[in-house]
This record gives sequence, C-alpha cells and structure tokens, in this order.
Amino acid sequence: MSTILLAGGAGYIGSHTSVELLSSGYDVIIADNYSNSCPEAVRRVEKITGRSVKTYEVDIQDKTALEAVFRENKLDAVIHFAGLKAVGESVEKPLLYYRNNIDTTLSLLECMNEYGVKNIIFSSSATVYGEENPVPYTEEMKRGTCTNPYGWTKVMMEQILEDASKADKELSVVLLRYFNPIGAHSSGMIGEDPQGIPNNLMPYVAQVAVGRREKLTIFGNDYDTPDGTCRRDYIHVTDLAKGHVKAVDYVLKNSGVEIFNLGTGTPYSVTEIVDTFEKVNGIKIPHVYGARRAGDLPESYANADKALRVLGWKTEKTLADMCRDTWNWQKNNPNGYNTAE
Ligand code: NAD
Ligand code: WQD
Repeated sequence: MSTILLAGGAGYIGSHTSVELLSSGYDVIIADNYSNSCPEAVRRVEKITGRSVKTYEVDIQDKTALEAVFRENKLDAVIHFAGLKAVGESVEKPLLYYRNNIDTTLSLLECMNEYGVKNIIFSSSATVYGEENPVPYTEEMKRGTCTNPYGWTKVMMEQILEDASKADKELSVVLLRYFNPIGAHSSGMIGEDPQGIPNNLMPYVAQVAVGRREKLTIFGNDYDTPDGTCRRDYIHVTDLAKGHVKAVDYVLKNSGVEIFNLGTGTPYSVTEIVDTFEKVNGIKIPHVYGARRAGDLPESYANADKALRVLGWKTEKTLADMCRDTWNWQKNNPNGYNTAE
C-alpha cells in the first residue's frame, strides 16, 4: 500500500485525514513541529484506528532536517497541511506568515524533486476566490483579491505549485480549496483545539457551551443576507478528510494540476449555526450582536459539482451532525488535548 507524508499532519484537519487514510489502508507518516498541535493528537489517531503512525518532529521550513524524512522513507505522495492560518494574526505579522507558509512549500517541493516524489496535495482555501468572484464559487474562476496576508500566501502557494507542475510534467498536483471545516471525529477523541481565544466561529461557540467563554459576539447583523448575518459553507471535518482519501487516489493516477472545492454547496448563517447548536445539544449559547469584523465577506459557498463528478466525493454529514460532534469532542475534552489545565 502507498505511503503518504502528512506535513502538518498532527493538526486539526491532518489528524482527521490520518484516521481516514489509515482506515482506507494507506500508511501515514506525520512531520510536524507542533507549533499549533501536540503529539497526543497522533496517539489518539493510533487509538481510533489501531494502526501506528511514524512521526518526525521537524520544522518543514528547514530543508536539511526535512531531507531525513525523505531519505528514510519511500514516499508515494505528500499532503501539505503545514501552515499558519490565523487571519487576524497574519495582518499583524505578515512576514511570519509569508516566511512560514511559503518556505514550507518550497522545502517540500525541493525535497520531492530530489527524492523523486511526484504527487502532492495542497491545503488551499476558499479565501483565494477573493472579493470579486460571485457565489457559488467554481474552480475555473480566476483567483481574486484577498483581504489579508494569510489569503495571499494561499494564492502564492497555488501559483508556485502550478509553476512547478508546468516545469515537471511528471509532477501531479491537487489543490483542495476547503470551505469552513467544523465538527470532530464521531469518537469525540480528536477535534479542533485552538490555542488562546478562538478566531473561528464554531470553536468559540463550543467554548461558550463548555463555560470557558462568557458569550459569543456575532460580528454584524446588517449584511445583505436572509437574516442579516454572514453565510458560510460549513463542512464536517470527517467529510473533508474523506475528500483527501479520494484526492490521494486521484493524484497517484494522474499528472498536471487539478483544483477541487471541498464544501457542501449549502450556506448557513451565523444565527443558524447558533440555533442548530442550541437545539441539537440542548444548551443555550449566550450571544450579542456586535460590529462587523474587518475583511468578512457577506457570503462564501462552493459549487461542489466537480469533486462529485471527478472524484466521486460528496459530503454526507448534516449541520446537526457537525454541531453534535463538536459538542461531543468539547465536553469530553473541555481543555482540548491539555488534560492538565
Ligand atoms: P492546524 O494549525 O490545526 O494544522 C496545521 C499544522 O501544521 C499544525 O499541526 C502545525 O503545528 C503545523 N505546522 C505549521 N507550521 C509548520 C512548520 N513550519 N513545520 C512543521 N509543522 C508546521 O490547522 P488546520 O485547520 O488543520 O489546517 C491545515 C491546513 O489547511 C492549513 O494549511 C490551513 O491554512 C488550511 N486551511 C484550513 C482551514 C480551516 O478553517 N481550518 C480552511 C482552509 C484552509
Ligand atoms: C465564520 C462566520 C464571522 C467568530 C476563516 C478564514 C478562511 C478559512 C476558514 C482558514 C463569519 C462569524 C466568527 C465570532 C462571529 N481559512 N463569527 N463571531 O472567516 O469564514 O473563514 O476560516 O484557514 O480563510 O477567513 O470563518 O469561523 O472565522 O467565521 O460572528 O466570534 O462567523 O463573522 O461570518 P471565516 P470564521
């Protein structure tokens, strides 16, 4: 069976993808510097699947250190999750974001080139559609103008990967544009564990539910949307992880660059998220309406037809599943992976 290197594989999406790849028979190797994750997540992946995962604690920017991973293993494909992802922080610290996100990509591509690894899947984002494109987004739309350095790193990395593939006809690249991943594995053993105050909606809601935060502030209710709050394409992280298994099957058999949206195609508003979370879990989420957050688009959602047509993938989980599984993870792990807190 093929061996897949997950760069940044100890993180939220990488850990869930590890479970699905291992369950599908792939061997998984994780390289991570644990800057936004911890080894405990990998131990739990092993518990869920009953399979072992080889890990390397390495900064993927550091090409010399990364070379050991390529030297010591016969890799069939790489999935590149390793990146910094906090939009607000990227505005404060643009150089940190450009350095980390671009350098990890360059080091991986250079090592792949040197060791003859010809398949890469990249964690891109719906953010590359920018401000200009109309919803629902389709893959052939031109990349747009981003409102923050995080988004620009994704635009730049897509370009780098496309150029690398043009220069090396054997290189197979899949760009996966994630929409808004939420939820957790149905076991409640792995989930999203943000450090500090959560930037994203669902982890914030979960921390209010568990009593770590007092109340949610809903950023703006005067948008031109059905209920005045922003609408997003929330996708269960297990559906997203299964999309990666299909993408691995695909990347191993093809060459060139292919782009896929990974979303449900159905948008929900902030209010609908709060209402559904309250209803399925029987918990009140105290909330207030506040000012708009800079850079937020009123609506973002996918046309997900291409992934169905080409990969045979579509989402299976409902918004109720996403809310239930988030709470199952959060209530079993009130302090995330840090049980000592
Ligand atoms: P995450 O922070 O949980 O996972 C990223 C992992 O990469 C972490 O384990 C972190 O320690 C590791 N990492 C970062 N820099 C590294 C480096 N230099 N060397 C080694 N390891 C490094 O984030 P996630 O939510 O799992 O996201 C994974 C990828 O998907 C990221 O590239 C992110 O930008 C992208 N993405 C995420 C979302 C989302 O909403 N979660 C949406 C679109 C795209
Ligand atoms: C969702 C909605 C907020 C928090 C971000 C990145 C994107 C992608 C996914 C990450 C918005 C509202 C939020 C809160 C709120 N990449 N909200 N109160 O902004 O759609 O996407 O994450 O790697 O690039 O931009 O997701 O979860 O932050 O916000 O009202 O406390 O919830 O205004 O409408 P977003 P989000």
